[in-house]
Amino acid sequence: MIVAEGLTKVYAMGRVQVRALYDVDLRIGRGEYVAILGPSGSGKSTLMHLLGCLDTPTSGRYLLDGRPVQHLGRNDLARVRNDRIGFVFQSFNLLAHATALGNVELPLIYRGTRRRQRHDRAAELLAQVGLADRLDHRPNELSGGQRQRVALARALANDPDLILADEPTGNLDTAAGDEVVNLFEQLVARGKTIIVVTHDLDIAARSRRFIRLRDGAIESDTPVSRGREGNP
Ligand SMILES: Nc1ncnc2c1ncn2[C@@H]1O[C@H](COP(=O)(O)OP(=O)(O)OP(=O)(O)O)[C@@H](O)[C@H]1O
Ligand SMILES: [Mg+2]
Repeated sequence: MIVAEGLTKVYAMGRVQVRALYDVDLRIGRGEYVAILGPSGSGKSTLMHLLGCLDTPTSGRYLLDGRPVQHLGRNDLARVRNDRIGFVFQSFNLLAHATALGNVELPLIYRGTRRRQRHDRAAELLAQVGLADRLDHRPNELSGGQRQRVALARALANDPDLILADEPTGNLDTAAGDEVVNLFEQLVARGKTIIVVTHDLDIAARSRRFIRLRDGAIESDTPVSRGREGNP
């Protein structure tokens, strides 16, 4: 599903260049459950942005389902992101003026889903993340962990094949974190591909592969043998 070759990202900060990711080769198959670990600043979020087509590499190649992403135009990229990829990022990027329900409906609006279906799907997803009684709350009327769960429900709205999560349990208490972890397991059981950046050892322990980054490079890539594994 994912093939990256020599993926490199250099941020130019005036005269200083920050090499956030350097020469990363990576293959991730459909249905894999991968945890990305590594110290702060090691390039985890940068890698997630590249894999999610939110940013382009300085050099290297990225193929998503065999298609070189650098050849896609802006509209095609937006469609790939909306239809195929669910994002849960460190900053949740929720719309401040929309309710929880409205935020989760957003990807469905882009896709042209009918109002009634949209509403039902969004309400069902919010119930799945334990927010059935918070549909009409706006982000500033929710706790950090609840916002995170709205972001997760939104990521799942279009039933994406690939879920990219950057510290999805970072702000959650243990119970809410467990809900997210259980949800991930259900998604993997349904054949979804999940790549999750995490410091949370509970999540990492339940994934099937650990990739450890250090200074923008892959330090180790360890499969956890536990049954089914995807093919690149
Ligand atoms: N937009 C940017 N412009 C310039 N430098 C950046 C930018 N984004 C990240 N960096 C730098 O690139 C390096 C990798 O950052 P990245 O956000 O990928 O780290 P991370 O592993 O996700 O860290 P954390 O665990 O703290 O979230 C860091 O040194 C960071 O300062
Ligand atoms: Mg990060």
